[in-house]
Amino acid sequence: MDTLDYSGRRCFLKTVGAVGAAVALPNSVDAAPDEIGLHARALKKGMFFGCSVSVPVLRADPRFRAAVLKDCGIVVPENELKWSRVQPAPDRSALNFTFADYIYKFVQQNGLQLRGHTLVWSSGVPAWAQRQMGDMKSATAAAGFLQMHVADVVRAWRGRVVHWDVVNEPVAEDAKSSIWLDKLGEAYIDMAFQVARENDPGALLVLNQNLVEMDDSYQGSLRKKLLLLLERLLKRGVPVDAVGIEAHLSSDLKVAVKEYTSLLREIERMGLKVIVTELDVWDGRMSGSVAERDKAAAQVVKDLLDISFSFKNCLGALAWTLTDLYSWYHETPKKWRQDGEINRPGLLDSNYSRKAMWNAVASAFDAAPVR
Ligand code: XIL
Repeated sequence: MDTLDYSGRRCFLKTVGAVGAAVALPNSVDAAPDEIGLHARALKKGMFFGCSVSVPVLRADPRFRAAVLKDCGIVVPENELKWSRVQPAPDRSALNFTFADYIYKFVQQNGLQLRGHTLVWSSGVPAWAQRQMGDMKSATAAAGFLQMHVADVVRAWRGRVVHWDVVNEPVAEDAKSSIWLDKLGEAYIDMAFQVARENDPGALLVLNQNLVEMDDSYQGSLRKKLLLLLERLLKRGVPVDAVGIEAHLSSDLKVAVKEYTSLLREIERMGLKVIVTELDVWDGRMSGSVAERDKAAAQVVKDLLDISFSFKNCLGALAWTLTDLYSWYHETPKKWRQDGEINRPGLLDSNYSRKAMWNAVASAFDAAPVR
């Protein structure tokens, strides 16, 4: 059963669809179909480019599928591998990969690569699992519970993904908001990576982190915490291969050029790879015309990617939305713009035309050194 609520997104889709029909949108995916796509540009540098996908959108929108095939060499299920999706009920017979498998089929049919997202996170955990975890009396029982989930998912999909986001957003403001940290301490991270490695030895294992890119004191504190965490994990021999930089950027902030560069330098020094995993730009607080807003968004993307791609251990990037038409920012009213305009977090607009952000990504790949 589909447990995530798509109502906000569906609603938005319907609205845009209706407007689109009224103004008779062109059928072509974009205005310059012969121009080289983003993954093709990335490949020239030994890198990759991709985006998140979801089953409702893949099913409903052939233009989205075409846009993915034009610009992407890799995709990641937006929600379909999260705990609440793969095991909505406590009985292990409830394990259900139907939605994720739909994406796997799309990937196979089109010769794409796939990322696995995400095995352990404080979010996306079904209520039954949170309750069960909360009731656990011993650390051994809690560890077994977590390990079983990771093993179940990784075994079911062994060999299908090139990367697993093993632990998502471990460094946060309120450490106690994670049931895993609460019950198991930091050892939950060690366990998750070890079980992932044992069950899918061929996959690159990623620690995926948000909010470490911008010039902002909170993000500055997360950068420090992230480095300290990575150091401890590596010292304990935890099999972390790469750091995912989520890159949910905000166009009313600047990229912390110096601090982000030194974060990546430290990660490189530790021998880890880097992937930009969820690139998008929230422009909910930006005023100005659409062109001005898009220009500001493109600038933060350019600043972020120019730094990221200058490091040869940075393997590639994925957008969390390819088009403004679908975005997690449309799901949450507190992310909506006060002026009633839609957020424009994507590389393509709602009509699948390229925006300034698409050009920023293209030129960052063009400027990247060959791996
Ligand atoms: C988001 C999805 O886009 C939404 O559809 C869902 O309601 C909540 O999760 N960081 C992550 C992603 O690692 O899994 C999140 O995805 C966005 C933030």
